[in-house]
Amino acid sequence: MTDPQIVLTERVQQALAHAFGPEHADADPLIRPSQFADFQANVAMSLAKRLRRAPREVAEAIEGALSDFPGTVEVSGPGFLNITLDDSWIESEARRMLADPRLGVGSTAPSQTVVIDYSAPNAAKEMHVGHLRTTIVGDSLARLHEHLGNTVIRQNHLGDWGTPFGMLIEHLLDIGEGAAVEQLEAGMGTEFYQAARVKFENDEGFKQRARVRVTTLQSGDPDTMRLWHVFMDATVRYFNKIYELLGVTLTDADIAGESMYNPMLQKTCDDLEASGTAVVSDGALCVFPPGFTGSDDKPLPLIVRKSDGGYGYASTDMAAIRYRVHDLKADRILYVVGSDQALHFRMVFAAARVAGWLPDTVSAEHVQIGMMLGKDGRRFKTRSGESIKLVDLLQEAVDRATAAISDRGYDEATKSEIARAVGMGAVKYADLSVSHDSEYVFDFDRMLAFTGNTGPYMQYATARIRSIFRRAGIETSDAKGPILLGDPAERALALHLLGFGSLVEQVAEQSEPHRLCAFLYETASLLSTFYEQCPVLRPDVPPETRVSRLALCALTTAVLETGLDLLGVPVPERM
Ligand code: ARG
Repeated sequence: MTDPQIVLTERVQQALAHAFGPEHADADPLIRPSQFADFQANVAMSLAKRLRRAPREVAEAIEGALSDFPGTVEVSGPGFLNITLDDSWIESEARRMLADPRLGVGSTAPSQTVVIDYSAPNAAKEMHVGHLRTTIVGDSLARLHEHLGNTVIRQNHLGDWGTPFGMLIEHLLDIGEGAAVEQLEAGMGTEFYQAARVKFENDEGFKQRARVRVTTLQSGDPDTMRLWHVFMDATVRYFNKIYELLGVTLTDADIAGESMYNPMLQKTCDDLEASGTAVVSDGALCVFPPGFTGSDDKPLPLIVRKSDGGYGYASTDMAAIRYRVHDLKADRILYVVGSDQALHFRMVFAAARVAGWLPDTVSAEHVQIGMMLGKDGRRFKTRSGESIKLVDLLQEAVDRATAAISDRGYDEATKSEIARAVGMGAVKYADLSVSHDSEYVFDFDRMLAFTGNTGPYMQYATARIRSIFRRAGIETSDAKGPILLGDPAERALALHLLGFGSLVEQVAEQSEPHRLCAFLYETASLLSTFYEQCPVLRPDVPPETRVSRLALCALTTAVLETGLDLLGVPVPERM
């Protein structure tokens, strides 16, 4: 482990045990970055209280007990320990990290099976930009867990079942299969739905047909099932177009939509009722998980079967959670879904615990996704008020990126490749760089800016390093060091990079890709100071300095590229 904060924590803990007894070996030394040194340990203050001794005296005792310590320590003020790492330690750790293909990122031990439920657009309702964010955040979590050696099972819980399909299928028959498929593949799902809805509300005959169609669909009538497939296949082809454009790793094999659980729902309900987990209340079958009450202080029901015998969203999620634990053997289930569904998931998890379907050894977590807002601070819509077609939105990002790089003299093919990477990278990075549960303002100008915490800025940082290597005429893999820290800018950059491995592990553990963005942004900023202070290829740079700086550049780009890859942000060779 190269992360200085972790190394120092271990060393100070050893000193604590040595100076005050083994019962202190697990105390948190409270090591934090400091403005007066590299780090500061504040443990002496809290420990002094417990030992009834002067903090300064405690700090001095810790200092005296430190051994095998990779830096110098100074007791300051009332009892702070200011820690400055030795340059030689940073140099050798950085070089070791450069030689490590995993860049100090460990593997989860033992490896876990992580089920990640993400994207999950609805075929029969408006597909909105909110799904863009669950798709992007979920995909990054999938990449992170795979990188840590976990078994990732992606589950695209499509909204592909339910009563609206009666009217959708009837509308499909009215306009003809060919025309319907064409519309759906083009991303006109919302328009298709709205047209069906208008007829359903104004045309008694149509409404009647739609109702009958729901029944034939539920009964599995082959002809109706075929029409359902025609509808869904065309819709999924549109979703796939978007996934491909975005470089999202979801495939058809990951589809596990609501329809998949339909055959399980009756047994799900029967089992819940038989075990006494669910009871009939006002004709509906309900679970009343402990701790949930409505505004009237009455227990809040999770309705698993409605009073008309129909099933709903909660029924499906109860079947799904059992399937994920029992059949998929999940150790951890992540639901990357809008924060407006927080209560639903808390109740589903609690109900599954009561039913014994979610043992304590399995964690179920709702990774809440905050709402997408327009620049006006309201729910994201077009000017005329309709929701925005995802494919148009993504195309606009690519068009704007094309305009931004149009003066750089690339041929058409290169230009369109870069524009796509920059456009998609900008949209994805913007979604990821804000903590996933906060609301997020969709703003093309900001996300496409070439400065600040943006995708294009990170891509630009890597492209800059690549161009140094092109000019040097060597591959990054040829740069092996040794790394020598002369300038403070080199030192700051190297020290920061050492924290990469443990940061990636924390980001996956806590489902917080925005912290990886922040780390990469800090990397790019330190890199840019390094560029200002430290020439690499200038003829007057001594050979050993050049070797060292190239190695530091190679390490930086390895971190940036690995980090961006874990976020799912593409890295163009040039920009
Ligand atoms: N289709 C749902 C929606 O758009 C999201 C499904 C999330 N996953 C789940 N297991 N409920 O709101």
